[in-house]
Order: sequence, then C-alpha cells, then structure tokens
Amino acid sequence: MIDAPAADAPRVVEILKLWTTFQSPEGEQVVHRDLDLTIRRGEVLSLVGGSGTGKTVLLRQILGLEHPARGQVTVLGQRPGQLGAKGAAKVGMLFQHGALFSAFSVLENIALPLRELKLLPDELIRDAALVKLQMVGLGPQQANKSPSDLSGGMIKRVALARALIMDPPLLLLDEPTAGLDPESADGFCDLLRSLHRELGLTVVMVTHDLDTLFDLSTRIAVLADQQVIVSGLPREVIAHPHPFIREYFLGGRGQRAMEALHDTPAGHAPAER
Ligand SMILES: Nc1ncnc2c1ncn2[C@@H]1O[C@H](COP(=O)(O)OP(=O)(O)OP(=O)(O)O)[C@@H](O)[C@H]1O
Ligand SMILES: [Mg+2]
Repeated sequence: MIDAPAADAPRVVEILKLWTTFQSPEGEQVVHRDLDLTIRRGEVLSLVGGSGTGKTVLLRQILGLEHPARGQVTVLGQRPGQLGAKGAAKVGMLFQHGALFSAFSVLENIALPLRELKLLPDELIRDAALVKLQMVGLGPQQANKSPSDLSGGMIKRVALARALIMDPPLLLLDEPTAGLDPESADGFCDLLRSLHRELGLTVVMVTHDLDTLFDLSTRIAVLADQQVIVSGLPREVIAHPHPFIREYFLGGRGQRAMEALHDTPAGHAPAER
C-alpha cells in the first residue's frame, strides 16, 4: 500500500447522494443510489466491485461523460460537465478498453488531446508528447511506430501517456493492468507508483487485480448494492460482512494476496481514525 495523505488534504472529488439511472426496455435501471464518496488530494483510491456494479460509470460521472439523475458530483470545486475544454485538462482517463487509434502513430495518439485544443504550434505539441513518452518509460524510437507493433504493456503505457498529456492533477484508471502478464503488470504498477509520487497525482483506479490493489492503493472502496458500502484500509474493508467482500477478499485468491500484504509494514498499519 502507498501511504495515505493527511486526513484534511483538500477534496478533489466529492460525490453526494448520487443517483445514476439508465432507461432500458425493461424500465429504469438504477446503477447508483444515494452514493457518497470523497477523494482527497494525493489519494490512490481503488474501486472494487462485481461486474456491472457501476465502477466504470462512476469514473464516467467524475469525467463528466455521464450526468447525475439526482445528487451531485464535484471535481476540483466544479461540476465535471461545466469544466469545458479547460476542464478536460484537469482529469486524465485511462479507459478500460482504451485502445489506441490504429491509424495514428504512437506519438500522434499521445498528442491527440492537445492537438484537438488547437492552442499550441505542432512543434511544441510534438515535444510535449515526446516528454510524456519518456515519462512512461518508452523512448523516441517508439514514437513513429503503429500501435499494432506494440506489446500489451507498451499499449497501456502509451494510453497512460495520452491520459497525462494535459498534466491533469486527477487521473482515472479503469483496469490498468487487466490483460497484462504478471511481469508487465508489476512494471506498470512501479510506473504508476513513481508517477503518483513525482507528479503529486490524485488517482481513482478500478481494478479486479488484488496484487495491483494492495500494491498501489491508499484506500479501498467497495461498490455493491448501488452504493459504496465501505472504504478504508484492507483490514477495515475485510471486516465488513457483505457477501461480495467475504468472497472477494477471503476466497483463495484473496487469502494469498492478503498474506503477501502481511509481509509489508503497511499491511499492519493501524487505522488512523
Ligand atoms: N450508456 C449506458 N446505457 C445503458 N446502460 C448502461 C450504460 N453504461 C452502463 N450501463 C449499465 O450500467 C451498469 C454498470 O456498468 P459499468 O460499466 O459501470 O460496470 P462495471 O462495474 O464497470 O463492470 P465491469 O467490472 O464488468 O467493467 C451495467 O448494468 C451496464 O449495462
Ligand atoms: Mg468497467
């Protein structure tokens, strides 16, 4: 686990009594019901929950791609939908199925959000994209490659560079290590850890991967029954009696990851509140 920021660090995301609903042929589907969540500067908050519990939709609410049916989402003091082009610079997102555009080169993919704003000359945009390429551990020799020539781990890195191109203080990651082999997943976690430290980022991450979860989070929030049913350190979360938590953390896979966690000092850290 990464150490949590101070309990009074500024609020970056504030979600109050959020309802998200979708109309379907069978009627109204309620994805979030009175959901509350506050995320403070410097946190790496991991969202876990069963498939279809609304994790991706929650990230899309923070990004302003979905809108509350009721309740409120505030990002850096503003409603995400009202942030406009400037707002796009404040939140970077690594999409769950965030494929790169295959017709564009690696560098063009990274530069895309900056190019769309049409604020900078091409030369500067190119340089900015090259800086980000290095930041994610790739070199200029990858710049002109096509995405189809990259490994899965490299594709994730390029997508991360694209999410960071506007230097956003808030980064949203949807299943960042899904589909990677264990070695590439570990490398990607190392990269995220150092970027979080160096850039002072606030991160909201969805992950099914217990190693990534325990490696990177400052806090874990569990989504079930249309709400965040509990959030805190692993020991606080696993004490919750919800069946999803029993199954997820205390099943075979969870046991092994928890044992690995107990080898680290953070796993034993007492709750701060
Ligand atoms: N645009 C949409 N229109 C209608 N229903 C939607 C839309 N987006 C999401 N949903 C529904 O909302 C629910 C939550 O979806 P979401 O993608 O957030 O799940 P998830 O928790 O990310 O699942 P997974 O772990 O499989 O990625 C699902 O039932 C999904 O079908
Ligand atoms: Mg999802």
